[in-house]
Amino acid sequence: MILAVSALKGGPGKTTFAVNIAAGLALRLAGRTPRPRVLLVDLDPQAHAAYWALGKSRGDPLHIEGDDLSAHLLGAAQGSPLEVIRQAAFPPSANLDVVLVRPQGMAQAERVLTADLADGIYALEEYLEPIRSAYAAVVVDTPPSAGAMTLNALVAAEGVLIPMELTKMGVDGLRETLAVVDKIRKRHNPDLRIIGIAPNRCDFRRSETNEIYRLMQQQYQDLVLLPVSERAQIAYASSLRQDIFTHLGRAQDQAVVEMGRVVAAVARRMGLQ
Ligand SMILES: Nc1ncnc2c1ncn2[C@@H]1O[C@H](COP(=O)(O)OP(=O)(O)OP(=O)(O)O)[C@@H](O)[C@H]1O
Ligand SMILES: [Mg+2]
Repeated sequence: MILAVSALKGGPGKTTFAVNIAAGLALRLAGRTPRPRVLLVDLDPQAHAAYWALGKSRGDPLHIEGDDLSAHLLGAAQGSPLEVIRQAAFPPSANLDVVLVRPQGMAQAERVLTADLADGIYALEEYLEPIRSAYAAVVVDTPPSAGAMTLNALVAAEGVLIPMELTKMGVDGLRETLAVVDKIRKRHNPDLRIIGIAPNRCDFRRSETNEIYRLMQQQYQDLVLLPVSERAQIAYASSLRQDIFTHLGRAQDQAVVEMGRVVAAVARRMGLQ
């Protein structure tokens, strides 16, 4: 299954969810034999998710020799799609992979794909086609815009998870995102399902948060997942270049509980039980 994590708004936690869900699914599946693998794909030219999963900080050299994902998306790659995939730095179950990306290459790929969008929206689907059966789950992080990369993710995906902050701006962002999902569904990908609306960075001491959470539940019902609060440990794990589950281990921290519930809901709704 392929899950896109998308929201047409900066900062509600797309990258945080994409990385933690990918790692969380990998950990959930790790007990099976043969051990299923999970793939993380970072379509945001900022490449935060890819650097994070490789255990690197922005500015660290990535030591990519030869092609990266952008060469494949542009049809310019020499080797097989698997050649641009590496094992992620976590979780310790060692069954999470990540696709190599060069930020500049991905920014250029976005420009080129945008120039011929009729064809350009199928580039990711075509890249994943020969390799998707090797993975129990593919999680795709996207940029905060409805450009070619986000459209590629929504065309290739079976499900989309939409993170949102419980603010008025968050509600606007959600509505815009749902409109784009609807368009993609009608024109290109009728099977695309909304896996969940994921409230993130919530502070229930604020009345606006409570009010908007109730509103979202009324309007979108079961689509609204249990919220993830603003938790220092979630940001801290990312600064250590780890997922929250690897970082906190078996500690019964609320950050693990909340993110774990999102992972469980995604697994259930995408049929990964
Ligand atoms: N639940 C949380 N608690 C605390 N900090 C969080 C939480 N979720 C995300 N953050 C922090 O908020 C910031 C934005 O999150 P993130 O980068 O995941 O958002 P994004 O939607 O991918 O942003 P962009 O649109 O720029 O790609 C990051 O610094 C991240 O560590
Ligand atoms: Mg991001």
